[in-house]
Amino acid sequence: MCGIVGYIGPKSVDSVLLVGLTRLEYRGYDSAGVAVLDKGELHIRKEKGKIKALESMLRDHPVEGRMGIGHTRWATHGEANRTNAHPHVDEKKRIAVVHNGIIENHYELRHELMREGHVFHSETDTEVIPHLVEQALRDGKSIEDAVFDTIKRLTGRYSFALLHDGDPDRIFFARDGSPLIYGKGAGESFLASDVPAVVPLAREHYIFENGQWGWITKDELHVFNEEREAVPHDLKKIEVKAADLDKGGYEHFMLKEIFEQPGMLRRIIQHRIGDNGKLNFPEKAGSNDFLIRLSRLIITSAGTSWHAGMVGKMYLERFTKVATEVDLSSEFRYRNPVAEGDTKVIAISQSGETADTIAGIYEAKAKFLRVLSFVNNPESTIARESDAFINLMAGPEIGVASTKAYTAQLIHLLLYATFVGGIKWLTGKEERQELFEEVRRLPEMMEHVLERADVIKEWAKDFRETKDFVFLGRSWNHPTALEGALKLKEISYIHASGYAGGEFKHGPIALITDEVPVVCIAPQGDIYEKMLSNIEEVRARKAKIISIYTEGDEKIQSMSDYAFPIPKCSELLSPLLTVLPLQLLAYYVAVERGCEPDQPRNLAKSVTVE
Ligand code: AGP
Repeated sequence: MCGIVGYIGPKSVDSVLLVGLTRLEYRGYDSAGVAVLDKGELHIRKEKGKIKALESMLRDHPVEGRMGIGHTRWATHGEANRTNAHPHVDEKKRIAVVHNGIIENHYELRHELMREGHVFHSETDTEVIPHLVEQALRDGKSIEDAVFDTIKRLTGRYSFALLHDGDPDRIFFARDGSPLIYGKGAGESFLASDVPAVVPLAREHYIFENGQWGWITKDELHVFNEEREAVPHDLKKIEVKAADLDKGGYEHFMLKEIFEQPGMLRRIIQHRIGDNGKLNFPEKAGSNDFLIRLSRLIITSAGTSWHAGMVGKMYLERFTKVATEVDLSSEFRYRNPVAEGDTKVIAISQSGETADTIAGIYEAKAKFLRVLSFVNNPESTIARESDAFINLMAGPEIGVASTKAYTAQLIHLLLYATFVGGIKWLTGKEERQELFEEVRRLPEMMEHVLERADVIKEWAKDFRETKDFVFLGRSWNHPTALEGALKLKEISYIHASGYAGGEFKHGPIALITDEVPVVCIAPQGDIYEKMLSNIEEVRARKAKIISIYTEGDEKIQSMSDYAFPIPKCSELLSPLLTVLPLQLLAYYVAVERGCEPDQPRNLAKSVTVE
């Protein structure tokens, strides 16, 4: 994971780098550092912990300069301490490097360089890069040749930015596998792992392709390919606004993003469902003939996006009658799936940069399958590597725990399923119109749920010391149970497990004591009575019951210790509402326990390692 930035221009480099790094902190926050080149000398500052720690170090030990590179780390090779923090330098401190990715052959390179007399200080894979460049310089190469030769020696996935003390006007870079962009402002240039890092100073950007490398000056970008040929590069306007990147008065991004869901849904519905009830999906990946022929769908995704895929499977099977499998990307890519011509692969990802999901796409393409992705970043690797992509339109999601991207995934999967069902003549116009009328009411229903957030805030106080939670749901809300448990454990560090209600008696019920609260997701629908039986079973074992139920259901209220209503809606739409109280529960319990919900320990927003 990790985030990298580079800046060259008229402003004080330390403040520009700090803003950029703060915007990239979602990519990792184990340690942070900067290198600044001033009057031919490299100045390095790095610190363990979050950007704030680096900021206070820079206050005590300021750096001056107009060009520099910075890094925020999610540790892979070597403990999260100051020594392993980036930037890394060669022993003469002539070259400084920040890197995102993994150099897989670092061990061999390190030993080869050590035999040449190089002394290593950190345990990181990254440190081989400045040493390789320095060795090439020692061998009499120019800096351009040294960078190029170094890239040729590296295997793995990387993007890096590099300063050389003999080059006061250029920052070098390379990308192979990990994202990297160039940003252009007025008389200033940027490098970054993601566009938000350069907003609002850069107005235009270019996304590097794998295999590209080169350098930036304050006014220019020079890009080359693996054959060392210059690559033409069209800059595109940056659409992200600075206002999308702040907390908007909320205490945390996660809370802001939870509350953004009704407005987001309204925007999506307006865009996707025309006034005439016609669905707007120009990005369908395959002709109508292909969609009619379609015999199998495979969904590949990870984490919360995998849970969305589980609900998506039900939507797709119901409306398209195409057998649909859902696979974890990390399993799909290694299991050599049997798949032939009329199969389509659907990749779901908020970031569009999840390494396992990218690998799943390559696996699908190697089998000549078409890939349609559902992504929240239209410029991401997943969007670009797929045959077509559907933009989730959730807007930037910064909190590490995914919230609004999940409901954006659900609504898009539902609408896409009815769209394909329509092409296949499986869903009639009337059925669709009836469904869309209810879909149009969803934003208001969401608002209704969120208006009662304070109820859950109060409950959270009772769970400050709780050690274990269980979440139960069936059918449409089995994925909701898994999602509720994931949200709680990732940000509050309370152990939580989600189960299909019917499976609970086959073992997990042994976990139940009067100290284990059980969240029962039990809206009205076909399996409602079965959920009631689950509630009875856990109540009999003295567990505290937290239920999510349909407004007006007195039976459930009387059986529960804590009960939260959602508005009456079709069962298939209920996952878009039942998840909201669970997002709030995770958030408020985390805050109550003094955890930092936007930056949970050991996690990063974009999981770009395999
Ligand atoms: C969600 O709260 C998680 N942080 C995580 O499970 C995430 O959903 C997963 O890493 C997949 O990410 P993606 O959607 O960006 O591919």
